[in-house]
Amino acid sequence: MRAEDPVRFDEQREMWDIFRYEDVDRVLKDHDAFTARRTREDNEFSSDAEDDTGMLQTMITADPPEHNRLRGFVDERFQPGSIREYQPRVEAVTEDVLDALAGEEQFDFVDEFAIPFPVTVIAELLGIPAERRDQFKAWSDALIARPKNGTQTEIQRIQQERQQARQEMSDYFTKLVAERRGGDGDDFITLAANTEELSREEKVGFCILLLLAGNITTTNLLTNAIWSLEEQGLTDAVRTGAIGRKQVIEEVLRYRSPVQSLNRIAIADVELNGKQIQAGDAVTLWLGAANRDSEVFDTPEEFRPERRPNRHMAFGMGVHFCLGAHLARMEADVAMQQLLERFDRLDADLSNLDPLYSLYGLKSLPCEVN
Ligand code: HEM
Repeated sequence: MRAEDPVRFDEQREMWDIFRYEDVDRVLKDHDAFTARRTREDNEFSSDAEDDTGMLQTMITADPPEHNRLRGFVDERFQPGSIREYQPRVEAVTEDVLDALAGEEQFDFVDEFAIPFPVTVIAELLGIPAERRDQFKAWSDALIARPKNGTQTEIQRIQQERQQARQEMSDYFTKLVAERRGGDGDDFITLAANTEELSREEKVGFCILLLLAGNITTTNLLTNAIWSLEEQGLTDAVRTGAIGRKQVIEEVLRYRSPVQSLNRIAIADVELNGKQIQAGDAVTLWLGAANRDSEVFDTPEEFRPERRPNRHMAFGMGVHFCLGAHLARMEADVAMQQLLERFDRLDADLSNLDPLYSLYGLKSLPCEVN
């Protein structure tokens, strides 16, 4: 597609598909011609950031200059300096999740590590009391649940559960934001509670956005990392330090990008690669395809952690560039380090892979360890 029809109109979905790195980059950075606002059926990644009435306005669906106001108050807390300060807490969470696996010879990496780990990290950074964390995970699951067989009854049930989870979370965060106003805690809820920049709804929307944007994406990065190391026979090379963990993580982000696509709407007529996109048209930007564009990456179909530079766009581009990119990288680094320290052997079973495509990862990844 990238080579044959890099900008093509999909008649069935009534949307443009954009595959090339250069074109995806342009759309993500051209805020005068493309909006991130939700005006149609949205992508998997951001669809729940607002409720159906648009009550919860968050940064991910805002355009500049409104976007700066919604993101500005928290940007500093996601920069590398702040992220380094959170590292001991992330290490402690990793140890707890691994301790729960003590004595196991087999476990499902997705269910027992890659899912609980990032949820607990976000809960910790938001300052959610430990006793509420199971509830927190249940909400998070309901918000990202997708129909499996697509029947009307199933879709209705999922929508109802999502609506209920959203309402409960919203009530819960509203209460916490009110309670923490004026407090001096260093958690994100207190930070949001004390900012003058945001309305009450926007503060609650911010808390829910962190939960949605930071969990399944990181789960998939961790899963795709263990999957790729096993597939490429590189686990021991990373264990001995022959290949750096950070380079592996960057290559996993490129090669198996957890977020495969993003959506935008044109707000001006634009010509892209010889095609005329009109104001009002919806576009899907295929990050996964752009990350394998041979114009930008040598031998893009090969997994090569040593590639430098690795200019992948797994975290997007432009003003919406992932707020949590440094956090996700640090989480993956700490997780990989501790997993390899804890287990002398970590063998993932790739014989029965069941990929998830909306946000790219696996449903399960059985591992044997000792
Ligand atoms: C935005 C990917 C982890 C919070 C984005 C975007 C991408 C992305 C592609 C751009 C969305 C767009 O342009 O429409 C990822 C991946 C992750 C990850 C692949 C893990 C491997 C996280 C984490 C957090 C987070 C851990 C927070 C704790 C956000 C937020 C935005 C965002 C708040 C919206 C930023 C804005 O609109 O200015 N992420 N993300 N992400 N991400 Fe991440």
